[in-house]
Amino acid sequence: MQCLFEFFIKLYLVLTSVLLKDVVSNELWRTVDSNGWRASSAPRIYWPPPPAESESNGYLRVRCNGGLTQQRSAICNAVVVARIMNATLVLPELDTNSFWHDESGFEDIYDVPHFIKTLEYDVRIVMNVPKITAQGKTKKLKAYKIDPPRDAPVTWYRTTALENIRKYGAIYLTPFSHRLAEKIDDPEFQRLRCRVNYHALRFKPNIMKTSSDIVNKLRSEGHFMSIHLRFELDMLAYAGCFDIFTPEEQKILLRYREEHFPEKTLDYRKRRLLGKCPLTPEEVGLILRAMGFDNTTWIYLASGKLFGGKRFMKPFKAMFPRLKNHSMIRSGELEENIRGLAGSAVDYMVCLLSDIFIPTYDGPSNFANNLMGHRLYYGFRTTITPNRKALAPIFMDREEGHASGFEERVRQVMLTHFGAPHKRIHPESFYTNPWPECFCQMKPRNHADRCPPNNVNDVLESRFQNKEDVEVEATNQTDSTS
Ligand SMILES: *[C@@H]1O[C@H](CO)[C@@H](O)[C@H](O)[C@H]1NC(C)=O
Ligand SMILES: *[C@@H]1O[C@H](CO)[C@@H](O)[C@H](O)[C@H]1NC(C)=O
Ligand SMILES: *[C@@H]1O[C@H](CO)[C@@H](O)[C@H](O)[C@H]1NC(C)=O
Ligand SMILES: *[C@@H]1O[C@H](CO)[C@@H](O)[C@H](O)[C@H]1NC(C)=O
Repeated sequence: MQCLFEFFIKLYLVLTSVLLKDVVSNELWRTVDSNGWRASSAPRIYWPPPPAESESNGYLRVRCNGGLTQQRSAICNAVVVARIMNATLVLPELDTNSFWHDESGFEDIYDVPHFIKTLEYDVRIVMNVPKITAQGKTKKLKAYKIDPPRDAPVTWYRTTALENIRKYGAIYLTPFSHRLAEKIDDPEFQRLRCRVNYHALRFKPNIMKTSSDIVNKLRSEGHFMSIHLRFELDMLAYAGCFDIFTPEEQKILLRYREEHFPEKTLDYRKRRLLGKCPLTPEEVGLILRAMGFDNTTWIYLASGKLFGGKRFMKPFKAMFPRLKNHSMIRSGELEENIRGLAGSAVDYMVCLLSDIFIPTYDGPSNFANNLMGHRLYYGFRTTITPNRKALAPIFMDREEGHASGFEERVRQVMLTHFGAPHKRIHPESFYTNPWPECFCQMKPRNHADRCPPNNVNDVLESRFQNKEDVEVEATNQTDSTS
């Protein structure tokens, strides 16, 4: 942890120096020194291959739901569940008609052959439940439907689910988001999650191509940052911070809230002081400026439809005119294909590859959470998570006309609540932070942290080592898949 300590000291010195702002922002463009830690999700104990077809306990079907990233975690969970149960996994079904009003299936978003190949030593994956012949008739094996308990523990899959899959030959778990506990004691299962999330799940070539085109354009000007601006109807309604909106807008938010969330008294001032209110685009701009980023900074904006229209974006654009989103950069020919889940996938890739990533709301936003974990895994990339609770009183003072020392105070908060890499602390999610399970050291103090030696699970190891750099994969996507 020495390195992190030094990093803070360095930042502190930098912050109090004369050159203050410039140096801070310069420092942040770099990745953080990992002090000998590197990403590794290969097994560290003997890991037998999945059971042969004839020894499988049955077929596992799952139906994922939610947005792109919630479904992504569900896919990781499905693979782990199949492994736990010695079951054959049927390619997970994505939700086609939820939030995104999108028809995309797994095959439209992810590279299926790569997915199956990468996981061949972990689980057997098939495209469909097989047909069976009974009493002279051939028909599809019917999967027994189960709605698993939320965050079901491993034991539930080893008992209830196992009994049913053995009895019926196939089970269908639906819905399947958050249906396996995030906390699993066996680190091998957690590493399997990382293998799925960071190695097996690769977007389809057209999505990778669009993303790397965007990244290359932004990079040609130097570095760039990405911001996940969660200033969208559902999030704002959920947060319940309505006072900044017009009466018309408030009506819309309130209606959405009544339809989707439990009733609650919402005191704007209180909610804001608790850090419950998403940052407005203007607040994000003010934070960046206080940290020393100037109007030449290239910013990629990942977001759905921003609520409240241009009124909120205007002050931000005035501070940071070099602002782009995927519909502004992408090439015309791909326009038709990159929508809904696929559009979200492009945002995901660009945010993953950006030099700095700033989520403005880290509540129940799986997109930002998974990206934080993914960026940590791919080389300790800088993520800045503004502490809304600590910033709220500073913004409120400014709104009430007490603006003196504003930038200084914002910098102080950003310094102390920076969000530098660290091992997971409760209640952080495994998907937000897969450290320590999916990281290792060549010269560890603790034996469990040792990187797997090359002679153990040779095959697995070499397979994963070759893929450490996602950028190479991203830019070479066309070559490798054609
Ligand atoms: C799965 O197979 C392994 C051996 O390959 C065995 O040790 C384990 O008990 C099996 N688990 C179940 C749930 O069948
Ligand atoms: C940034 O601001 C300066 C004035 O402070 C102005 O001269 C310059 O044109 C601006 N650059 C951009 C890209 O807007
Ligand atoms: C991208 O920005 C343009 C121009 O500001 C806007 O009209 C469009 O809705 C944005 N698209 C997305 C997906 O945010
Ligand atoms: C892409 O692959 C080629 C050969 O396979 C390699 O020479 C090149 O360096 C790769 N490009 C990047 C950006 O890594």
